Amino acid sequence: MKIIEVKDYQEMSQKAAEYMIEKILQNPNIKLGLATGGTPVGTYQNLIADHRNNGTSYSGVTTFNLDEYIGLSGNNKNSYRYFMNEQLFNHIDINMKNTHIPQGDASDIEAECHRYEELLAKHHGVDLQILGIGQNGHIGFNEPGSSFESQTHVVDLTPSTIKANARFFNNMEEVPTKAITMGIATIMKSKEILLLVSGEKKNEAMHQLINGPVSENFPASVLKKHQCVTIIADKAVVAGLKVHSS
Ligand code: PGA
Repeated sequence: MKIIEVKDYQEMSQKAAEYMIEKILQNPNIKLGLATGGTPVGTYQNLIADHRNNGTSYSGVTTFNLDEYIGLSGNNKNSYRYFMNEQLFNHIDINMKNTHIPQGDASDIEAECHRYEELLAKHHGVDLQILGIGQNGHIGFNEPGSSFESQTHVVDLTPSTIKANARFFNNMEEVPTKAITMGIATIMKSKEILLLVSGEKKNEAMHQLINGPVSENFPASVLKKHQCVTIIADKAVVAGLKVHSS
């Protein structure tokens, strides 16, 4: 895993966007794996600014998001479909038909998981996957204990994840407790992975990732087995690593 150290969230977002733009220019038909949460928002803002200022086109790009809450339709403001439309897709020239997110309100959720995995296979998988990391080491919504062999599946969110997500909802009762997520095996099939990590609250997770064992108890540790992972981490995160190793 290659680590690029940056000053702060702004620089992480700028570098991540530059990284993605270079790949899009090299391959205008790239298949991107995208993430939600607080981490990639700044990256998406940089992509939008670049699209406006430099005209980078997404007309040939296909995207696959990692996950979606179960029970929320795409019109719900807290769904990840809504988030992606608002934060990125509505502001670039991507064909909405080429933006894929699991459907959280599908009537048959198991069939939806299967459909999503098949869709990824039909497209020969993701070229570049953007990832954040949960404080408990989750990637996508693969919580600790998830099998490294898992494909797109239904997960029960852990209390810590539900609590971390609660900031986006009016009250705890509204926070979904289940989600559909690409599995760990699905994520590992991506040809390349870009992991973004920012802020002190991710110190412990980053320490575990770098210094801990490869274990299903810490899902992100599987990334050590991937051939092509780049981590962009800010000073607050990297400083935590130095404290741990001294
Ligand atoms: P965050 O979430 O970007 O909101 O910190 C990351 C994650 O849970 O994967």
